[in-house]
Amino acid sequence: MKRETLEALRAPLSGNPLEIEVFEQSEDGSRIEQARLIDREAGVWYRLEDGIAELLPSEYQNVERWARFRERFSLEEQVAEAEARTPDAQPIEQIEFFGRHHDQYEEEVVKSPFYDVMDAVTLGHWLSGHPLRDKALIEVGAGSGRQTLPLARSGARVLATDLSEEMLRLARRKLHAAGLLERVDFAVCLAERLPVASDRFDAGLIFGSMHHFKDPAASLREMGRALRSGAPFYLLEPHDSPVRPVFDWLMNRWTLWEEEAADDPLFNREQFERWLGAAGFRSSVSYSTYLPPHLFYLFRGGLGRALLGGSDAVLSRIPGLNKLAGVITAEAVKI
Ligand SMILES: C[S@@+](CC[C@H](N)C(=O)[O-])C[C@H]1O[C@@H](n2cnc3c(N)ncnc32)[C@H](O)[C@@H]1O
Repeated sequence: MKRETLEALRAPLSGNPLEIEVFEQSEDGSRIEQARLIDREAGVWYRLEDGIAELLPSEYQNVERWARFRERFSLEEQVAEAEARTPDAQPIEQIEFFGRHHDQYEEEVVKSPFYDVMDAVTLGHWLSGHPLRDKALIEVGAGSGRQTLPLARSGARVLATDLSEEMLRLARRKLHAAGLLERVDFAVCLAERLPVASDRFDAGLIFGSMHHFKDPAASLREMGRALRSGAPFYLLEPHDSPVRPVFDWLMNRWTLWEEEAADDPLFNREQFERWLGAAGFRSSVSYSTYLPPHLFYLFRGGLGRALLGGSDAVLSRIPGLNKLAGVITAEAVKI
C-alpha cells in the first residue's frame, strides 16, 4: 500500500486518522507491506498485511487471521472494546460465500462471455467519456478486480475496497500479473462504513455489487461523503424488470452462475434517483441488456458487443420499453 493512500484512510468506527507502525516496507519506503494502523484515541488498531489494509469493525474480523498476524509480529491482544457489538448476518454471509467461492466466481462470472460484453458496453462507454489518468478513484465492492483492471489501465489511481479479503487477494494477484499493481491499493471494509477521509476522491465506482450490500442507500451516502465536488460516479446493478421471471426460468434451465445476493437485489429508477439525490449527487439513469445473457455464450466477443450495444441503443429509445431491461445504470456527479 502506498504511503500517500494511507493518509486517506480513517478508522472505520471513530473516523479518526491512523498512525502507522511499519513492520515491512519497500526499499525507498513508498510502499508499506506489513504494518499496524493505530487509532490512538480509540485505543484500537487494524491490520495491514501483504499490502492489504483490513479496516473492519472487530465483529467482522477473522479471528484466526488476526491470531496469525499477532503471532507473526509478536503483538499483544487487542484490548476488548468497551461495547461488544453483534455482527449483522448479511455481511457475515457475504464474507463466507465469497471466501469459499472466489475461484468459482472467477470461472463463472469473471470469465463469462456475457459479462465480458456487458462490461465493455457499459463501463467501457463510461470510461471513454471520463478521462481518469492520475485521478484518485474509489471502487466499492471491487471483488476479484474485474473492473479494477480496466480502471487501472485507464490510468486511474484506484483504492479497491471489498468486504472479502479473499476476493481482494485474488484481485491483487491479477493486478500484479498485469503489471498494474503500482496504480492500485486495497482495503477490506464495509461499503456502508468506508474507512476514508471525506471529500478525498476524484471519481467513484460501484459495479454489480450494491445488490449484495446490507444497506445500499448507506453505501451511496458513504460514496457521496468520500468524493470531492464535481467527481463522476458510475453505478450499475440488476434492474427490477417485470420480465425477470423469464430470466429466472432460463437460469433454472441453464445455470450460468451461482449467486448469494441481498434479500432485495433488484433496483429501479425511483430508488436510484432518491438515494443518489440524498447522497449529494446529480444523476442520469440508463438501462442495458434486453437480451438473455445466455445468448452471449453463443455470440461472443465483437459479435456479442455489437449485439448488446446495438440492442441497447435501439430498445432504450422506445418509450416504455426500458422497464424490461435487465440492468440499470446511473452516471452521477457529486454536487
Ligand atoms: C458480485 S461481486 C462483484 C464484484 C465485482 N464488482 C465484479 O463485478 O466482479 C459482489 C462483491 O460485493 C462484496 N460485498 C458484499 N457485501 C459487501 C459490503 N457490505 N461491503 C463491501 N463489499 C461487499 C462481496 O464481497 C463481493 O466481492
